[in-house]
Amino acid sequence: MSENEKNRVAVVGSLNIDYVTRVEELPMPGQTIAADDLTIFRGGKGANQSIAILRQGCEVSLFGCVGDDESGKAYRESLKQDGIDVSEIDTAPAPTGSAFITVDEDGENSIVIAGGANDFIGADDIRKAAPVLGNCKVVLCQFEVPVPAVLEATKIANRQNIPVVVNPSPVNPTYPWESVITNYVIVNENEAEEILEFPPSMENESLVRQRIHELRIENLVVTKGSDDTLVFSKDGTAFCVDTLPVLPIDTVGAGDAFAGCFAARLALGDSLEDAVRAANCAGALTTLGGGAQNPIPDFDKVEQHIEQIPKLSD
Ligand code: RIB
Repeated sequence: MSENEKNRVAVVGSLNIDYVTRVEELPMPGQTIAADDLTIFRGGKGANQSIAILRQGCEVSLFGCVGDDESGKAYRESLKQDGIDVSEIDTAPAPTGSAFITVDEDGENSIVIAGGANDFIGADDIRKAAPVLGNCKVVLCQFEVPVPAVLEATKIANRQNIPVVVNPSPVNPTYPWESVITNYVIVNENEAEEILEFPPSMENESLVRQRIHELRIENLVVTKGSDDTLVFSKDGTAFCVDTLPVLPIDTVGAGDAFAGCFAARLALGDSLEDAVRAANCAGALTTLGGGAQNPIPDFDKVEQHIEQIPKLSD
């Protein structure tokens, strides 16, 4: 077994074709506007996070579904060429997932998803692949695939003591958090408020602790765009981690770069704090280019910037 093989991460998640338009300002309801251009990229949170993990030097097995169409075949093949294990990507009788993304001149975006084949991945598909999952060091899931698939992956990981990272994006209010142990949850501020039912902060730490205990979440990581990332850890500490100051061009995929880099760094043996420092760099650097996957930095690039993010002990 190679060093990388020992650091394999399982990702249960979506694959989308991203249709990205750039505009000056996002349209208002009922408004029609002309885009400056249209670009088609590979996307989907599961695939984006898989690329982020791969670029940190880990092996990746992606559990997902593409459609029985040309774009699905091409997507699967291109991920294989990149070095991702695609043997757990199934084909469904539906179109490959699509995302219609509009980015404004400040790099902010709005996204509409047509899930298509992503909606076909079920608990059975995950159960059948339990041995592959059991060989991974970390399991990472998001919410662009059905709840039973995420739950099954989490249950298998719980049984085998494999750490599970969940990035519950987009939030699904039906997700039964209490039914499994989630070792790490990565959320942005809006998602945090939807899940906890109040905005988390250092000031209300004891309330946050009580709520995540109820939800059986061990460690909560709250990203806040360009503001410090908040961490409520299992060991009873709560701390803030600086972000990397950048001038964003396009924020699409920044959250995925964060989650993927975080999971990879855990697999590589980083502490929670160091994994967040690296993930903050990966997220920020991803905003400096167009498309979700192209600008995701590799391990060396993250290392070039990580010293700018102070450690708690500094
Ligand atoms: O997080 C960004 C991703 O969200 C895009 O790639 C798009 O496909 C949607 O899944």
